[in-house]
Amino acid sequence: MNFFSQYSVLNSCLNKNKTIGLVPTMGALHEGHISLIERATIENEQVIVTIFVNPTQFEKPEEIKSYPQNLNLDIQMIKKASPKSMIYAPKSNDLYDSKMKTYSYEFGIFEKIMEGKFRNGHFQGVATIVEKLLNNFSPTKAYFGEKDFQQLLIIKSLVDQKKIPTSIVGCSTYRDSQGLALSSRNKLLNTKELKNAIFLIEQLKLAKSLWKRENSLRITKIIEENFLNNPWLKLDYFDIRFENNLLKAKEKSDQKTRAFIAARIGKIRLIDNLLLNEY
Ligand code: PAJ
Repeated sequence: MNFFSQYSVLNSCLNKNKTIGLVPTMGALHEGHISLIERATIENEQVIVTIFVNPTQFEKPEEIKSYPQNLNLDIQMIKKASPKSMIYAPKSNDLYDSKMKTYSYEFGIFEKIMEGKFRNGHFQGVATIVEKLLNNFSPTKAYFGEKDFQQLLIIKSLVDQKKIPTSIVGCSTYRDSQGLALSSRNKLLNTKELKNAIFLIEQLKLAKSLWKRENSLRITKIIEENFLNNPWLKLDYFDIRFENNLLKAKEKSDQKTRAFIAARIGKIRLIDNLLLNEY
């Protein structure tokens, strides 16, 4: 049986002389997660998939309660994609003591903008759980999606700061046939809302085509206006930033630049991003 709820038991089953690939998730798995698991399976001799809805990265208790969960289905999907992988799905007390405290980190601008600004304390919680997982399993590589690009940079910074000897692998965003980035939160949308969620990638693609000739200010104005004319979605932010330092990019340059978007459909908040200078 390759299912574990205690990291000490899983650890005793690991062969420390073989490479370990870690794929941290919060469950409610979809093809995006599976693409990370498949890559980890190709690149490592042992694979650990973790499933844990980490309480410290949510601002409000109701967000945790409403987070989609389906452990049995998750296990089936993992077994199909990577039959030998080890699944770690613990209860909170395997990772936190009763105080559920986050560690304290300094991530500079990375945690002050976009998701950091809209979700107070979110990245402190993400970094805390990821540091615990990296320290518990000492993986050779750990896999994270570009879908959560800001999170990926936070984790790279965490590993640098704490000198954790794990390579962080960024994996491209998995999209459905219409371009919608797969997300566990999509499961909370009804059919009509799901149809309208395509608007996010449509606006990112529009930004990408405009970036050839327009500056950031102008594009942002256009996209903000498009959102005002769409009754289904409320825009939280649209930003054009450099990939490496997340500073705002004013106009086209040789530096890799991404457009970042967050919007709400009803109570559900969706995020996405797209590399702009890739023609
Ligand atoms: P979760 O949202 O479950 O995502 C787990 C991993 O899958 C993350 O690295 C995320 O970026 C990646 N992912 C999600 N959707 C994707 C898609 N469409 N294409 C490619 N990768 C995708 O992110 C978290 O969980 C948590 O914050 C976690 C890192 C597990 C810490 O609790």
